[in-house]
Amino acid sequence: AEALRVALAGLGTVGSGVIRVLEANRALIERRAGRAIEVVAVSARDRTKDRGVDISRFEWIDDTVALADVGADVVVELVGGADGPALALARATLGRGKAFVTANKAMLAHHGLELAEAAEKAGVPLKFEAAVAGGIPVIKGLREGAAANEIARVQGILNGTCNFILSKMEAEGRDFGDVLAEAQALGYAEADPSFDIDGVDAAHKLSILASLSFGTRPAFDDVAIRGIRQILAGDIAEAAALGYRIRLIGQAELGQGGLFQRVQPQLVPQDHPLAHVTGSTNAVVAEGNFVGRLLFQGAGAGDGPTASAVIADLIDIARGEAGPPFAMPVTALADAGPADTGAR
Ligand code: NAP
Ligand code: HSE
Repeated sequence: AEALRVALAGLGTVGSGVIRVLEANRALIERRAGRAIEVVAVSARDRTKDRGVDISRFEWIDDTVALADVGADVVVELVGGADGPALALARATLGRGKAFVTANKAMLAHHGLELAEAAEKAGVPLKFEAAVAGGIPVIKGLREGAAANEIARVQGILNGTCNFILSKMEAEGRDFGDVLAEAQALGYAEADPSFDIDGVDAAHKLSILASLSFGTRPAFDDVAIRGIRQILAGDIAEAAALGYRIRLIGQAELGQGGLFQRVQPQLVPQDHPLAHVTGSTNAVVAEGNFVGRLLFQGAGAGDGPTASAVIADLIDIARGEAGPPFAMPVTALADAGPADTGAR
């Protein structure tokens, strides 16, 4: 079979990771995909930057949005940002009837519905496993694994940077700013880390999970958000003395009153499974009416885990196994309306 040809936008933590993993596991990926997956063209801001991977054999495209026009079957967007070149590239790619893979939860939270409509209209896949909880196959788990179930509630630890900060402050007594700098050096944080620590990144992910879980339209603007900026070492110590740990939790429920979505730091009892999620690990708990409680846990950020999720999407596309982006056609998604989150 002919190779699946990939155009890759963004060569930072995740983009370079994709090149590395594709190379390291080339033979295995080809066997699983049923054909080779070949990067043919790449784009980023700085052509000369050392990225620790050899990009000399790929065609370099200066204008990132023009990747939609190169001879590729699928465009992978790993640039980031809700709008700007990422959105322009998504629109151009789907508009030209090509498959699109992204890790960009900010763009999906704001424009996911429009992009899903464009993908459906063109009859091409739009895949985003890497956008929520890094390496954990939670999109696949909810979209396919739990497809026969009604899901009442979904909650979890959705930001690796915040969990890394909270658990390091707790275990090692370290300073907030010092641990944030380490999370940035490890490639966990967003380009603007205020998205992480103010809870916005977790809210982007929660709005995607809620849509997949409840069959509702993504509704990021209705998420009540509070981040971890105000958490002090003393708060963590006081919580520990009372038998709790502090975790940034995203929670969504669909009830009679509408769709409830909230991200906030919460006290978690020390014997609760979420209290034992440390470092950049993420965890998602979903409750289905027949399957019961599902717990998804694993690496929520970083190059290897996130690249693994991107490549899993490429393997699905290579096999011709991509379903609708939000688990059902866009026209079937309900508008649940916001429930009162009690946010002030
Ligand atoms: P990153 O390390 O900052 O890399 C971003 C890449 O995009 C860089 O190669 C950069 O080019 C390029 N870029 C930035 N602005 C551009 C522009 N205006 N035009 C063209 N190229 C541009 O980011 P990342 O951590 O890899 O994240 C990429 C995406 O994955 C984001 O949507 C992020 O939210 C998502 N994500 C990240 C993780 C993670 O753990 N890091 C996990 C899940 C999802 P230069 O290198 O030349 O500067
Ligand atoms: N900045 C994000 C996090 C990357 O820390 O969870 C993974 O989406």
